[in-house]
Amino acid sequence: MATCRVTGGGMTMPTSSTKGNRMNQNELKQAVAKAAIKKFLPFLDERMVLGVGTGSTANCFIDALAAYRDYFAGAVASSAASAERLRGHGIAVCELNDTGTLEFYIDGADEANHALHLIKGGGAALTREKIVAACAKTFICIADESKWVDVLGDFPLPVEVIPMARSHVARELLKLGGDPVYREGVVTDNGNILLDVHNLRILNPVQLEERINNIAGVVTNGLFALRPADVLLLGTQTGVKELRCPTTSG
Ligand code: 5RP
Repeated sequence: MATCRVTGGGMTMPTSSTKGNRMNQNELKQAVAKAAIKKFLPFLDERMVLGVGTGSTANCFIDALAAYRDYFAGAVASSAASAERLRGHGIAVCELNDTGTLEFYIDGADEANHALHLIKGGGAALTREKIVAACAKTFICIADESKWVDVLGDFPLPVEVIPMARSHVARELLKLGGDPVYREGVVTDNGNILLDVHNLRILNPVQLEERINNIAGVVTNGLFALRPADVLLLGTQTGVKELRCPTTSG
């Protein structure tokens, strides 16, 4: 299994904490959003389409990105909510089928480990997030330090399921040792339901991602291990830490 190295203990960007004040979670999200822009800014051109994720950290990113909207062509969004926010800032929203491979995908996570394996889907957008990540050369994950874990699984693993398969998939997830809970009242952008699997201690994320995806009726699950992040920008009180996965980033 790949391990990751910390390449930039603290980034150059000054943070409140370096001036003595503790940053709250929202400030940490804003710090990583700005750090992500700094990473790809040198590569931005007027033909580039960015992949953009979903959630409160991705929203910070979209808001920060607005200032640069004249310097790139547009964005592919991983959810209807992000598409609406992008349009609200005057950023063109593109169809993934029209763009081909994307240079960068920027998105948050619910949990991240040392191999940059992630749990995603707290915002119900896991399937589109996985599709956009699959089309991106570089997946930059942005997260505050509360998302960093030794072992994935404290955050209930989201599984997107075709509605008629809900009970079958739940029974199969029980056999894997998890406790699936139906996310009441939530329908994904793809018209499906979600099961959140509690009480998993995920020691082999690649294997579990494959096993759950092989259950009939599962659209996908929120493990991003087969295609982990390439770069993790982690917002901490001592600055934004950059972690890289050598298997994907070289
Ligand atoms: C949405 C996601 C989000 O990236 C994840 O839930 C993190 O969200 P936030 O930035 O609000 O903590 O996977 O489906």
